[in-house]
Amino acid sequence: MDDRKYRRLFSDLPNIVTNRLILRKISEKDLYDMYAYSREEEVSRYLMWSPHLNIEETRGHIEYLVKEYRKGRCTDWGVALKETDELIGTCGFASVDMRNNKAEIGYVLSPLHRGKGYMREAARAVVHTGFDKLGLNRIEARILVGNTASERLAENLGFKYEGTLRNALYIKGEYKSFSYYAITAEDYFNLSNG
Ligand SMILES: CC(C)(COP(=O)(O)OP(=O)(O)OC[C@H]1O[C@@H](n2cnc3c(N)ncnc32)[C@H](O)[C@@H]1OP(=O)(O)O)[C@@H](O)C(=O)NCCC(=O)NCCS
Repeated sequence: MDDRKYRRLFSDLPNIVTNRLILRKISEKDLYDMYAYSREEEVSRYLMWSPHLNIEETRGHIEYLVKEYRKGRCTDWGVALKETDELIGTCGFASVDMRNNKAEIGYVLSPLHRGKGYMREAARAVVHTGFDKLGLNRIEARILVGNTASERLAENLGFKYEGTLRNALYIKGEYKSFSYYAITAEDYFNLSNG
């Protein structure tokens, strides 16, 4: 990838506006909204992190994100409701592999706002940004076995199942298997034109 595309996007993460949502930088003002869902056991069940034990943990994470924005590194957009600006989750690129021109997507949605297609809307916009603005050739999702809501979302976005790596990650004291899902630029532009 031409690293100018990466710098252009991440040096000042732009807002992305969709029908019902605004994807924007996260700031201190989102502390309570983020804590409200990050403390829920169920939210990080299939993720690397554990439920936030107190609001200071959430504050620390927001400080980390703000630093990443300042450094111009790829990181999450905050997903907020357009009408109220309430932060209901995050979505973004967990990593970008410039050499191979691919990225890994990640997303988290507050349980209070599930089943309404919000993350489908947000992730679709992030995928579009990846292919359109970054010119990526491939976007991957690594989904722990059992996370059927995430698999369903990936498939709805046009990602294809590619295989499962057995006991490939040691997370929270256990070996976990995860599946690769991916969408290529070719898949994406065929879908968009079809
Ligand atoms: C993965 C996760 C984001 C999915 O949340 P979600 O709300 O089910 O996802 P979507 O935004 O795609 O919503 C789709 C659902 O909304 C429904 N829906 C309602 N209105 C809709 C609309 N206007 N448009 C689209 N879907 C709509 C769909 O029918 C679908 O429901 P179904 O799954 O029962 O068929 C959520 O479970 C989560 O945050 N999990 C914890 C974090 C995590 O594991 N992240 C993944 C790491 S790999």
